[in-house]
Amino acid sequence: MFKVRVPASTANLGPGFDCMGIALSMYNTAEFEKIDSGFEIKILDNSSAYVPTDKTNLVYRAVDAVYSKVGKKPDGIRVSIYSDIPVTRGLGSSSSGIVMGLVGANRLLDNPLSVEELLFLGCEIERHPDNVTPALLGGFTVSFMERERVIYSRSEISSDLRFAALIPDFYLQTRRSRGFLPRVVTLRNACYNVAHASMLSIALTTANEKLLYSCFRDKLHQRYRFPYIKSGEYIIRSARRFGAYGGYISGAGPTIMSVVSKDNKEFEYNMNELIKTNLKNWRLVMLDADNTGAVIL
Ligand code: HSE
Repeated sequence: MFKVRVPASTANLGPGFDCMGIALSMYNTAEFEKIDSGFEIKILDNSSAYVPTDKTNLVYRAVDAVYSKVGKKPDGIRVSIYSDIPVTRGLGSSSSGIVMGLVGANRLLDNPLSVEELLFLGCEIERHPDNVTPALLGGFTVSFMERERVIYSRSEISSDLRFAALIPDFYLQTRRSRGFLPRVVTLRNACYNVAHASMLSIALTTANEKLLYSCFRDKLHQRYRFPYIKSGEYIIRSARRFGAYGGYISGAGPTIMSVVSKDNKEFEYNMNELIKTNLKNWRLVMLDADNTGAVIL
């Protein structure tokens, strides 16, 4: 018996649509046990109403993908899942399920697959790599899929940065949220995002806090999603007023993430006061970056 722990992740970071992500200090855990036969999934938290336990479960699909890759069928396995990451809120809960399955299955088979092979299988299931890559590797990742490979870079995030997740009591499914986006974008908006995403990469990898103030804006996806995330833009404006470097829709939403200096001691208090008066269906969770990724405990 062993456990796999996988971090939450925040994707896009504003301009890095479908390619940038950061792992965060909130976790899902799966315990893998050998049993006589079959494949059992147990949900140990209150997400069982939203998470299937049949063959559509993402942990199962990931386990099956690893076994299929080595020409086997998964059998005699029980997985018990405990989730802290809220479902369909834009914090990478699907990717954490996929990564738990990949890492657990690889361990059950005595590690036949490399990290790159696991990453590719995970991205094939999720279809975009921006949550799977940080969930597996930790830190700040930039990744894209090219033919049969995932090209990625990974860097550590400075412990001077904190991530303020404003999580609402409503959800937004990624598929629906992608449906709001236009199929065609202007050259001007594409250039805007290339510039902002490139600068954001440099600001994060060199821990250049001054640059960070200018980097989180985007023109490809957020303006089409804000109408479905009531108070989203207000939260970002308020976070900046409270001294955050910037804010953005985490992944496909609806969580709003703000990036804050650890020296900004008043941010948490100010945001919680605002929640009490103006944002009653939101809660604030202050997180750190996770520079470790998936681990076997
Ligand atoms: N990048 C995805 C989107 C969400 O914005 O639709 C996270 O994978």
